[in-house]
Amino acid sequence: MKEGIIMKEPKQLSVSAIQNGTVIDHVPANNLFKVIQILGLDRIDNQITFGTNLESKKLGRKAIIKISGIYFEDEDINRIALVAPAAKLNIIKDYEVVEKRVVEVPDHITGIAKCMNPKCITNFEAVTTKFKVVSKKNVALKCHYCEKITTQENLQII
Ligand code: CTP
Ligand code: ZN
Repeated sequence: MKEGIIMKEPKQLSVSAIQNGTVIDHVPANNLFKVIQILGLDRIDNQITFGTNLESKKLGRKAIIKISGIYFEDEDINRIALVAPAAKLNIIKDYEVVEKRVVEVPDHITGIAKCMNPKCITNFEAVTTKFKVVSKKNVALKCHYCEKITTQENLQII
């Protein structure tokens, strides 16, 4: 680690700094594994470190994920907005934060979520789910096939 980073980072880090990659901060602790699943982090070989149940004034308990050597496209990272709407991305290059980004709930969601309607075709045939986002704030997804609304409370990640 570079000497300088210690001067700039007087706070104690719960998870070690990374040299290059992406830090996803302000993930609700109870959705950490959903974020890992959505981004497919369980299937890559890069070095990943995370901390969870860390104190956060905004979220109560937050999680942080540090992925070395990966920079995400907006389109990919916005997929986590359903489960981590307050997530902040920090792009790290040579130990420095060079960019900060927030996630945005997209207008349409393909895959990721399950339709809550047990009779929906997506639940008994091999059809990828498709939703129009009717509320970004509380997360309400209208199914393209059955038009039923799936909300944050009954949201299940596929
Ligand atoms: N970070 C890291 N590795 C680095 C630099 C930063 O893992 N080489 C992490 C920090 O631990 C922090 C996040 O990236 O979790 C953002 O860093 P920084 O902007 O320095 O921290 P804050 O000022 O606390 O950011 P914010 O208030 O925007 O959350
Ligand atoms: Zn449906």
